[in-house]
Amino acid sequence: MILVFGSINMDLVASVRAIPRPGETVLSPGYRTLFGGKGANQAVAAARMGGHVTMIGRIGRDSFGEACRANLTANGVRTEHVVMSDVPTGCAFITVDEAGENAITVASGANRMLDAHDLPTELLGPETVAVMQMEVPLAASLVAARHVKNAGGRVIWNLAPTPARLERAELLDLLATTDVLVVNEIEAAMAATVLDGATDFKAAAQLLAVEGGLACVMTAGGAGAFVTSPGAELRHVPAVPVTPVDTTGAGDTFVGVLAGELAAQAELETALQQACAAASMACLSAGAQDGMPTRAALKTWLDDRQLTAS
Ligand code: RIB
Repeated sequence: MILVFGSINMDLVASVRAIPRPGETVLSPGYRTLFGGKGANQAVAAARMGGHVTMIGRIGRDSFGEACRANLTANGVRTEHVVMSDVPTGCAFITVDEAGENAITVASGANRMLDAHDLPTELLGPETVAVMQMEVPLAASLVAARHVKNAGGRVIWNLAPTPARLERAELLDLLATTDVLVVNEIEAAMAATVLDGATDFKAAAQLLAVEGGLACVMTAGGAGAFVTSPGAELRHVPAVPVTPVDTTGAGDTFVGVLAGELAAQAELETALQQACAAASMACLSAGAQDGMPTRAALKTWLDDRQLTAS
């Protein structure tokens, strides 16, 4: 069973020619209201791969919250542990430029209220694959991850978005409860700096893997991903070349599919191939969740290109 302990947002998305610089105003023809939040996105990505997914999160008592819950349910994600709070549902303000790149401001709202007690420990067991990110309180996520580990489960931790501040003790605690750490280059460099080391991305990934005794996966956008673990060389997993329409949610697709594949007992390298392929495909549609493939859709897409992920 996959358990996502994380954020649920409504995304307000505006397409622009170029993302505004500080102090600049740009015009967009309009905006779209789309489902998002790193946690919810990862839950949907895992569910579309056929995983049994339970979302642990918080929404407000408002129309965005109700719509977000209904969307999760419609995607096959269990939501009985999504708690209503008196704080408004999280909202992300997203601008997407002509190259498909984005800039995001998240108003956390109800996500800030997520508590370790929201995690029903009776759900946990050796078959649990839990997914954590950095859009809900870190202290709550650390306690939740510890519960998962105590029950014999596995933890995937996506260090996104890059935290503004991360204490060394917090990072060591996080690494100690993690089986697979997923970072991009910026997050890897930040974490390596907290640990007082690493000069390049390869060294940063290896440092994190050794410190945590874990597999460190570094996502690299169109270049795919790299993975290392203590004593192992850095291995490259390629992406499928695409011309992106919108990269929003590509990282979440990667993490959700990785969780889905690991919960289905795939080997890490096989799971990473599938995650890279799904993330590539997700870039072909606007919005975080619209392009997330089902297992069947991903297979057809790869077959059409005479590629296989697994
Ligand atoms: O990773 C993309 C997500 O980040 C968006 O859906 C937005 O809600 C922010 O959380």
